[in-house]
Parts: sequence; C-alpha cells; structure tokens
Amino acid sequence: MTENDDAKMIEPPQSGLTRRDLIKGVILGGVAISSSSYLFRASTLAAQTSRGTGDRLLTINVNGQQRRADVMKQETLAWTLRHKLGLTGTKLGCDRAECGSCTVLIDGVPHYSCSVLTHTVRDKKVLTIEGLASPDGALHPVQQGVIDEQGFQCAFCMPGFIMAAVAFLKANPDPTRMELAQGLSGNLCRCQDYDKILTAMMRGAENMRSASRA
Ligand code: FES
Ligand code: FES
Repeated sequence: MTENDDAKMIEPPQSGLTRRDLIKGVILGGVAISSSSYLFRASTLAAQTSRGTGDRLLTINVNGQQRRADVMKQETLAWTLRHKLGLTGTKLGCDRAECGSCTVLIDGVPHYSCSVLTHTVRDKKVLTIEGLASPDGALHPVQQGVIDEQGFQCAFCMPGFIMAAVAFLKANPDPTRMELAQGLSGNLCRCQDYDKILTAMMRGAENMRSASRA
C-alpha cells in the first residue's frame, strides 16, 4: 500500500455520501476484518494440527464424561469442543470475547470458551448445551422456555444465551425482566431479537421455578 492509498482511506466522505453510507462501510469493513482474523487463526491452528506441533493428550470432564483429546498448548476450549470433541452446539461468533455465542459453564460459572485455554480446565467440569437435557431426553426448563415462546430467529446465538441464563437463574431464580436482561448483557444477538429472547428466558425462569416446586 502506498502513501497515496493511506491518504485516500482517511479522506472525509465526499459530499455525495450520506451518513448511512459511511456507517454501512464501517460495518462491512469490521465484518471483513473480523472474518479474516478468524480465518487466519483457523488456518494457523489447522496447519499446526497437521504438523502435530505441541499436542498434548489431555482428559477433560465435559458434560459428565471424561473426554480425551490431543490439544495444542495455545488451543482454546471452544476449538477443542467443536473440532476435537464434535460438540458443535457451542458456537463461534467473534472468537475474541465480545459476543457470548461460545458461552459454556465451567464449574457452574459462565465463560466465553473462545477465551479459555483448554489446558486450564483439566481439573474442572465443563457443561455445554449438549449436556443440559436430562439423560432421558427431557429438555432443561430454559430450553423448554425457548420452545414455548419460539424465542429466536436464526438461533445462532441461542446456545450461548441459554447457558448464560441457566447460570444466572440458578443464582437468581426469580428475576425481574430488567434484572434478567442485565444478567444476559454479555450475550449479543446479530438478529437483534432481544425482546423475544428475553420473553423466552423469562419463561425459562418460570419453568425452572415450577420444576423445583414439583
Ligand atoms: S465467540 Fe466467544 S465471545 Fe464471541
Ligand atoms: S437469533 Fe440470530 S443471532 Fe440471535
């Protein structure tokens, strides 16, 4: 890139451009940067995996089972869950601790699994969306709340929201709508369907209270 190119990039918008055009350009640029960083990281990890660089055989407790995997020392829990253990219910959105799509519970506490190194959870219990339902197949009350209210659009963010809600509701079983919204503020929805999501999570809270009374 030449100096002239740099100068062009920081020029103010021309008179024919609207603020909407400008914002659209910034958002599209952000998406491109975000995607390329993810692709770069993915290809680096894949290349290292193929060379077997620094792999260590680890056993981690996931959803009540002892699971073994070859894990690189810089590998994230989200990567291990999805690509080594086949638990693709945990989603990768931003891959940099911003969106909450990758939320899992570690010893009952919600964490962004894209920002946790797998080797740090060796002595802990990891719970993913796949481990929420009962062994007999009965859905967790929060999952049932989503079905009752049809709470999501594309549902990409759904596993992260559900995991965060399960942890929050365990500590705060009877929240107001505002309290629950604050409790879930670490999770973002690209479809912007927050009102319906919150209604579904409130129904999940109600389901949890009913289940504990039964
Ligand atoms: S993918 Fe982990 S916070 Fe976005
Ligand atoms: S429903 Fe589509 S990202 Fe949340």
